Amino acid sequence: MTKDIFDCIRESHSVRDFKSEQIPEPTLTRILEAGNMAPSAGNLQPWYFYVVQDSSVKEKLASASFDQSQINDAPTVIVILADPARSNERYGERGAQLYCLQDTAAATQNILLAAEGLGIAACWVGAFDEKKVEETVEAPPRLRAVAMICLGYSDEKPKQYKERLRLAEVAKFIH
Ligand SMILES: Cc1cc2nc3c(=O)[nH]c(=O)nc-3n(C[C@H](O)[C@H](O)[C@H](O)COP(=O)(O)O)c2cc1C
Repeated sequence: MTKDIFDCIRESHSVRDFKSEQIPEPTLTRILEAGNMAPSAGNLQPWYFYVVQDSSVKEKLASASFDQSQINDAPTVIVILADPARSNERYGERGAQLYCLQDTAAATQNILLAAEGLGIAACWVGAFDEKKVEETVEAPPRLRAVAMICLGYSDEKPKQYKERLRLAEVAKFIH
């Protein structure tokens, strides 16, 4: 049984403390499939999901991310890589600079929401040295590391809640 989509949106938040227990593979597969279901410009799907569970590789990813300890602690880290050249072939500069990043961000958000729906905690990590991350996961030269997602069972205490601007501050209706 999974959670209602609006409950997932409201309750999903960045968790940075994880239990060591690994996520069952079928659960991880469902989460990755959700990422792969994201929309993308021209349906090009310019994304790759590298799933890292090896402790020594996670250590290198953490050191490439200013020693963010949640990368070591999370039993699974997904590195999201974009393929700007694929978007560029169809859409030129706008594809490589904009669509490609929007596509991978949509996939990342799908992964976060799917994880929430399946009771898995997550944290989106964007602060890292791209080159070091790409080297660590042995990405082909055309790929760009754009995000990492730490995944696992939450060990956060106390539970954090989301803080957001009021809707009136960000929404404008044009009738
Ligand atoms: C593009 C992007 C980059 C982020 N980078 C990091 C990061 O490097 N480390 C981290 O702990 N959280 C990171 N976050 C998570 C944000 O800090 C978090 O989403 C925000 O503070 C709102 O908190 P919440 O997710 O708990 O609602 C990032 C989020 C996004 C969307």
